[in-house]
Amino acid sequence: MKKLIAVLLMASLAMVALAESPSLSPSAPDGLRDGGTLGEVGAAPPIAGDPREVKREVRNYPEQPPVIPHNIRGYQVDKRFNRCLDCHSRQAAPSAGAPMVSVTHFMDRNFQVRAEVTPGRYFCTQCHVPQTDAEALMDSDFKPIDQVIREGDRGESQ
Ligand code: HEC
Ligand code: HEC
Repeated sequence: MKKLIAVLLMASLAMVALAESPSLSPSAPDGLRDGGTLGEVGAAPPIAGDPREVKREVRNYPEQPPVIPHNIRGYQVDKRFNRCLDCHSRQAAPSAGAPMVSVTHFMDRNFQVRAEVTPGRYFCTQCHVPQTDAEALMDSDFKPIDQVIREGDRGESQ
């Protein structure tokens, strides 16, 4: 038993030594985090500020999950309880003054509309996210569809 422990200890020490050797720590390309090596763990960036409290935002394309225009800190969403549906369910929406989840949220995988929100749409923050005041990690050249169409029209008339 003692021998086994000694062997395991040696093996783990060897692995630590290997991990630190330069051959296993190649330098990483500058991606979303600056420089460093693949094996290196940098300091975590600061947590972004509270979600912006804004009015409902225009969607960039019709099937975009709308972003959440309010704070959701501490909202419980688990197997037993869904805080979002407290305001966004079919029954609660009118009195909460919130938009009801759309009919797609009731469709099962065969597009059959069910009485309850389908399990596939139960965990709301899989698709809907609040917006923070965080700086964008990288520039985006995304253009909303209206702009693409406008530019296309102009191209044709030339
Ligand atoms: C206390 C009630 C309440 C709760 C709880 C709540 N919401 Fe809302 N939500 C609202 C109201 C009211 C609006 C409309 C705000 C407005 O019109 O400015 C809204 C707007 C939204 C919108 C924007 C819809 C659109 O078409 O732009 C999304 C998405 C949303 N909520 C998602 C969520 C999610 C996800 C949760 C749970 C994490 C949640 N909400 C919890 C009241 C609530
Ligand atoms: C799998 C992704 C997904 C999940 C999970 C999801 N949604 Fe959505 N949601 C969407 C998409 C996409 C749209 C816009 C198109 C549509 O209505 O299907 C939308 C639209 C909405 C809208 C706007 C409805 C309208 O008519 O303007 C509300 C409000 C909303 N979702 C709330 C919720 C809540 C609350 C939950 C959790 C119970 C949830 N969503 C879960 C993708 C999702």
